[in-house]
Amino acid sequence: MLEQNEKSLKDQAQGESQKAMLFVPYRYNRPQMLPPLICSRRLYVHLILLLVIVFMLVIIRLMSTVKVNFVHFHLESDSDAELVTLPSQFAHSRGALCLDGSPPAYYFRPSLLSVKFWIIYLPGGAWCNSEYDCFQRSLTELGSSHVAKISIPMVGILSNDCEINPDFCLWNVLVLHYCDGSSFLGNDSTVRSYESQSLYLRGAVVFEALIDYLKESTDLAEAEQVVLAGSSAGGIAALIHADRLRTMLPHSVKTVHALVDAAMFLDLPDVRGNFELANLFKSVYSFHSIENSKSIQECTETQPNITERWRCLLPEVYYKFVFTPIYFVNSVYDTWQRTYLLKISCFASACPSVHRDVVYNARDSILTFAHNITRYKKNGVYLTWCPVHTILNQLRFSSAELGDSTVQQSLSSWLQHDLSQITGDKNFLSLEAALEVCKSSIKL
Ligand SMILES: *[C@@H]1O[C@H](CO)[C@@H](O)[C@H](O)[C@H]1NC(C)=O
Ligand SMILES: *[C@@H]1O[C@H](CO)[C@@H](O)[C@H](O)[C@H]1NC(C)=O
Ligand SMILES: *[C@@H]1O[C@H](CO)[C@@H](O)[C@H](O)[C@H]1NC(C)=O
Repeated sequence: MLEQNEKSLKDQAQGESQKAMLFVPYRYNRPQMLPPLICSRRLYVHLILLLVIVFMLVIIRLMSTVKVNFVHFHLESDSDAELVTLPSQFAHSRGALCLDGSPPAYYFRPSLLSVKFWIIYLPGGAWCNSEYDCFQRSLTELGSSHVAKISIPMVGILSNDCEINPDFCLWNVLVLHYCDGSSFLGNDSTVRSYESQSLYLRGAVVFEALIDYLKESTDLAEAEQVVLAGSSAGGIAALIHADRLRTMLPHSVKTVHALVDAAMFLDLPDVRGNFELANLFKSVYSFHSIENSKSIQECTETQPNITERWRCLLPEVYYKFVFTPIYFVNSVYDTWQRTYLLKISCFASACPSVHRDVVYNARDSILTFAHNITRYKKNGVYLTWCPVHTILNQLRFSSAELGDSTVQQSLSSWLQHDLSQITGDKNFLSLEAALEVCKSSIKL
């Protein structure tokens, strides 16, 4: 029994050891597992360290791109002007509305230097002269502030780059959003409609409301020097509103100048003998009830024939009524005028001689007009032979191809000396030669 017990114990032990043997690799491998375990702990530490480093690198990288974006954003927003829409209640209380009934708006880039210097710019965009035409326009940013761009780049005379725009780079810039289709001159108190959509013809009311709002909500109330500039349809607006703007501005304002760009629209016959501009201005004048616009009344009241009052929209008629010094900038071969008013679609040597005669006749009329303008010693004119349309709001503002001096230089000397002058008034290049010389300015 004892033996048996011993045996069984032995067996048990053997069995145990056999069992143990069976588990040996397992049991004895465990300690062997330890070093790799420690290793993997180290590995974890290393991995975590590596992750921390990678994480830090990513953070640093992110921060630098954030910084780059930040700097980039600021550079961009410094040169752009940002949209400000008038409060709807203010617009409605004044009856100042874009074609579609949206409130008027403006773009603003404040000066970092001073509240004394202000340039108010009126952009171009032609006109609308019928319900259908104005309704189509009301769906675009030329007729609605709802679809206006949030910010727009400031180029040429609006640029804040003092190398290319030394006179105005540090000025406060206001660009009034053009959304009325009447050169800011309409004043029809009724509401028109097209296919049950309301249409508002209130350009003059929009201009007045914008200036009043700006006096309250910006430092315009502290202005000392103001320049009212405009291109194309905006040039007509600048010419006609200049004197009235002066009366609306605060007493702190010492000087007002008007800059009229690409708006020497002359009442000339087109290639077929039709007076396109006359027809256009007649219809714009009556459709938008421009006779009710206060700014134009000094001129219209003197017109002996009521049916001819629309002629006050013509710069060749209106300039005589302007007290403010005006600087005209124009191409003698203005491309918009050639295409839409003279109705010439060919170019230079490709044109039949009849067409070329019309082009050169327009050039000579612009030259005569320039001489007429500068009979008033307060006025200046810059004419270029480069066939372009609008200059002040373009890179070509400081391009040397445009003439003996750049527009920027000529305008600068006119502003400083207040001398009447015509720049580039002699020996205009032929259209062919101008095309050759002005290649890059045309593209600018
Ligand atoms: C618009 O016309 C009305 C009525 O004729 C006039 O009282 C108002 O002053 C005019 N507004 C502008 C900005 O010309
Ligand atoms: C007014 O001008 C129109 C043409 O625009 C002409 O038919 C009319 O005779 C003129 N009236 C007067 C009184 O001169
Ligand atoms: C220039 O003035 C002359 C004389 O006053 C006038 O006959 C002519 O029509 C004017 N031309 C232009 C384009 O203004």
